[in-house]
Amino acid sequence: MNSSKDTFEVTPWGVSGVVDYEKLIKEFGTQPLTDDLIKKIELLVGEVHFMIRRKVFFSHRDLDLALSDYENGIGFFLYTGRGPSGPMHLGHIVPFYFTKWLQDKFNANLYIQVTDDEKFLEEKRNLSWEEVRKWTNENILDIAAVGFNPDKTFIFTDTEYMWKIYPIAIKVARKINFSLAKAVFGFDLQTNIGMIFYPAIQIVPTLFEKKRCLIPAAIDQDPYWRIQRDIAEDLGYYKTSAMHSKFIPPLTGFQGKMSSSKPETAIYLSDDAKTIRTKVYKYAFSGGRATIEEHRKYGGDPSVDVSFQWLYMFLEEDDKKVKRIEEDYRNGKLLTGELKDILIEKLVTFLEKHKERREKAKEIVNLYKYEGKLAKEMWSDLKTQALT
Ligand code: TYM
Repeated sequence: MNSSKDTFEVTPWGVSGVVDYEKLIKEFGTQPLTDDLIKKIELLVGEVHFMIRRKVFFSHRDLDLALSDYENGIGFFLYTGRGPSGPMHLGHIVPFYFTKWLQDKFNANLYIQVTDDEKFLEEKRNLSWEEVRKWTNENILDIAAVGFNPDKTFIFTDTEYMWKIYPIAIKVARKINFSLAKAVFGFDLQTNIGMIFYPAIQIVPTLFEKKRCLIPAAIDQDPYWRIQRDIAEDLGYYKTSAMHSKFIPPLTGFQGKMSSSKPETAIYLSDDAKTIRTKVYKYAFSGGRATIEEHRKYGGDPSVDVSFQWLYMFLEEDDKKVKRIEEDYRNGKLLTGELKDILIEKLVTFLEKHKERREKAKEIVNLYKYEGKLAKEMWSDLKTQALT
């Protein structure tokens, strides 16, 4: 793994090095989220999610156009997804909670793609089909726990819904040649042909409605949207909009991203209070000083402290509280152990609530998959305009 700021890499299948987000905006050709846009959101819906305010969502494509469409009464729809390769960790669920806020505020339809095909095809994972099926069902429960509007949300798995996806996917696929896919995704002659076709599948939900699509996700998924925007208008659709978040850093420090396959870097949604405590005490990278005396004298560095960053990025909504924690840590009043305790308490509460909602979601998950208003429409022939 790379360590210098100049040598990081972000792809849909992995992140290495310490990500320089400013540089990424230039590299990917996206736009920074500006204060004017933030003000516009506040004007339209009366408030701004703290992850926007703090620029955890730091970059976008055509968000201004999606907001204008909303302002003009046309509206937009939301699309996001999950690759079911294992248990979900905190980083995976954050975009979904954020998406719920967008859905509530903008009253938008939401499509959630669960890419069982992608995770089976990704050879480095070497997952059996049974494993992928298991994680698909488990992950869908975690997603359903977030509490989306059951009449406006459709959660689908690719292999199950493929009969509707495929006719659109071939139209997309015919517009993407191997040379482009190779350049964008780094495919080579050893890549299996399923993976080479897969990008067409992830693009399809951006074409589910003849409105602008807005995709909230971490920036790793942007390569798909870049291609979508090259071909959508030719196919008679809108170029998609997107909002990109930074990665919630691994517990162990800012190298790469939280990874399900490295338990020390992640808190899983299924972790209990004891496990959380042990992991945070043992692994959470600290910006504190070597001794208490030095810490009291010189203070800690919240900008590299993972406990502080997790609170700032997604756990502590209250701006005043987060500011106080930051100041107290910087001037040595708050010790590393005390900061970790604040984090642990927040994590335990967040996950306890999530688990309760997950239990309840078992009873209503079919609304999202088959029985809610939007799901029913998607399974019926009502929404076949995309296919014609
Ligand atoms: P997956 O399962 O790798 O990730 C699910 C979502 O979590 C985001 N994410 C993170 N966000 C913050 N901090 C992190 N450390 C972190 N790690 C992952 C991802 O950006 C994603 O939003 N191919 C996709 C599935 C997919 C999809 C989509 C995702 C299909 N269609 C549309 C987003 C939007 C995947 O494997 O995601």
